[in-house]
Amino acid sequence: MKIKRIGTLACFSFCLSSLLSAASMEDLTPVKNPEQLAPGIWKLSIGDVSKELRYTDHAAAPPRMEVLNEKVDTPYPFADNPISFYVSPDKRISVRIPADTDESIYGFGLQLDGIKKSKKVLNLNVDHWGKGNGRTHAPVPFYISSKGYGVFFNTARFLKAYVLCGNRKDSPNLPEPVDRNPVTRTAKRWTALPDSDAVEAHIVGNGLEVMIFSGESLLDIVSRYNLYNGGGAMPPLWGLGFWNRTKASYNESDCDADIKRFEEEGFPLDVLGLEPGWMTMSYPCTFEWQKERFPNPGAFSQKLLDQGIRLNLWVNPYISPEAKLYEPMYPLSGSHTVWLGIVPDYTLPEARRLLAEQHQREHVDIGVSGYKIDEVDGYDQWLWPDHATFPSGTSAEAVRQAYGVLLQNTTYNDLFKKHNTRTYGLIRSSNGGASGYPYVLYSDSYNHEQYITGLSAASLSGILWTPEVRQAANDREWLNRFHVVCFSPLAMLNAWSSGKKPWDYADVTDEVRKTVELRMRLLPYLYTAFSEYNRKGVPPIRAMILEDGYAEKKAVTQKAKLDDVRNPYEMVKTVQKTNQYMFGPSIMVAPFYNQYHSERTVQLPEGDWYDFYTGELVGSNTTITVNAEGMENHLPLFVKDGALIPMLTKPVMNTRDAYGQKLEVRHYGKKDGEFTLYEDDGKTFDYEEGVFRLRQLTMAEGAGNEKIIRDKAPAMFGPVTQWTTMNK
Ligand code: GAL
Repeated sequence: MKIKRIGTLACFSFCLSSLLSAASMEDLTPVKNPEQLAPGIWKLSIGDVSKELRYTDHAAAPPRMEVLNEKVDTPYPFADNPISFYVSPDKRISVRIPADTDESIYGFGLQLDGIKKSKKVLNLNVDHWGKGNGRTHAPVPFYISSKGYGVFFNTARFLKAYVLCGNRKDSPNLPEPVDRNPVTRTAKRWTALPDSDAVEAHIVGNGLEVMIFSGESLLDIVSRYNLYNGGGAMPPLWGLGFWNRTKASYNESDCDADIKRFEEEGFPLDVLGLEPGWMTMSYPCTFEWQKERFPNPGAFSQKLLDQGIRLNLWVNPYISPEAKLYEPMYPLSGSHTVWLGIVPDYTLPEARRLLAEQHQREHVDIGVSGYKIDEVDGYDQWLWPDHATFPSGTSAEAVRQAYGVLLQNTTYNDLFKKHNTRTYGLIRSSNGGASGYPYVLYSDSYNHEQYITGLSAASLSGILWTPEVRQAANDREWLNRFHVVCFSPLAMLNAWSSGKKPWDYADVTDEVRKTVELRMRLLPYLYTAFSEYNRKGVPPIRAMILEDGYAEKKAVTQKAKLDDVRNPYEMVKTVQKTNQYMFGPSIMVAPFYNQYHSERTVQLPEGDWYDFYTGELVGSNTTITVNAEGMENHLPLFVKDGALIPMLTKPVMNTRDAYGQKLEVRHYGKKDGEFTLYEDDGKTFDYEEGVFRLRQLTMAEGAGNEKIIRDKAPAMFGPVTQWTTMNK
């Protein structure tokens, strides 16, 4: 989406702590001169932020200043209409960020009910999804505005945001009240939620840091947020293959049998995930191997590695009194338990060290590739209370907000990065500053429409999301779910309870297999998309609002009927759909789901779009209808004019076999095409030292060309042997 308006530049170094004491506490104090940190990035500090847990302090890597400094120094958006703050008598630090009444606000993390958050009050607390009102697995306090800026509340406090809801009486731009009186009704329609000219938010704490982002487009703003937090995650190549989580009761021979069946059925497999049953005790956990089920974990893990299969272990962070770690960790844990397990304080280096050492010795040293870190979110009644205490003195709410981030940090940095080995895993809660962590969020909620929305929502907040498959009511649903998960950051079956297999819905098995195979063939394209996330902050799977030429469709408003009993406030119901998204630079995905299980509409942005499978032109800036029969049951995929898509010439059963594979490059549409293919070793961090390779692929007037433009690492994939002109 292109930006329409932006203010003028003002960038001075400024801190509000002095103002905080000087101003009368209840006065609204405008901030005219925030501190500039990088082109298009500013910071405002209110009060004493040194005593607060800030997400940026726990990011995977320092800001990517070398990339940010190359960016255009776009103006500060609030130069003319300043942000202001005040501290209320009950010690709430509140910020007022001016907005226009017609502004659209998007983001605030993994909000599965929709990406647009205008006219909502959000409680941004880590929680299970389902409570609503902003509570979710990853309530990232970052939003972007259609007017072309982003706001990040860099605090692990519970944050309550009033997004274009309510108005101060002293506002300089107060909207006009609208008459609801039936006789003198004005042309403007009265609504129970009048227009508002600000986003206001508050915390209770010692201080609050707010960061402002501007940029040349919404995508540029999101990219700057990711780059400031160390860039996007770079998974190992194997992480992009197919994952299968086993039933919680599985033992070694059950796992062996599963792997054999995958091979027999011709289904790719890269990662086997063990659920709680691998441990001697879970909920709370010991992190120790259950020897009855897995008598020789080292040999088991090695046997899998020999077949190219990685092992991923489920854990939750609460430590059982039966664990060897319990005693040393006891003094380093909080005052309360979760499922009677202790809750380590991972802001403490010693707690991190203890966990990392145990995991290293018992898991990573024998070849375990990563973790699924469960239950780092949770309902209030499961987790520690807000009045719990932690030995570091960090507040209970900050520990709760940041627990997922702290565990990503410990496992990623202390276990894997330290040993120059990449990991890719799952996490059930995350938060601000987390774009650099190679962890993907998931949920128990399972509504397919929400799972699709999650892909767009995650892309606005520096997080990754998998719409995992567990089971389905029928063949169609099974196929639809496989379609989506194979076009997501992590392609996974998680039948930990049902024990379903990919081939269990016989009538769609071939199409399910083809979908997984297509993901495998697209590995070169997808891996490059992740490198763009890592190096440039561009999310690999993205919301359409980040796309040029996409005009967000107006929400469908169901007309409200005034009624003295059922609707005395004339409330209207609006339905906003976020049901298509971008996969890599040029493929748009429009899946079938829920009641649209075999027919749906697709909004094509401006510019010609082509059918991925046939290469036929489908339209530009229009809405079309597609149905499953017409698509031969394939996932509806549309490609931008001029796109080049590098793919393996044939599918592989495991990413190990992708190395050295010959490439086909498809060209869609009429425009000339260009794609810079990224390659590295796929498993270490040597790319951070510049050990990577770039191949420039071009297609002009029907002739394809391949040129190596950076040669600091051996090729990952083989040569291009096929240039396919798809346009018809
Ligand atoms: C849930 C989790 C599931 C599965 C299960 C095992 O909390 O969301 O994916 O791991 O635990 O007990």
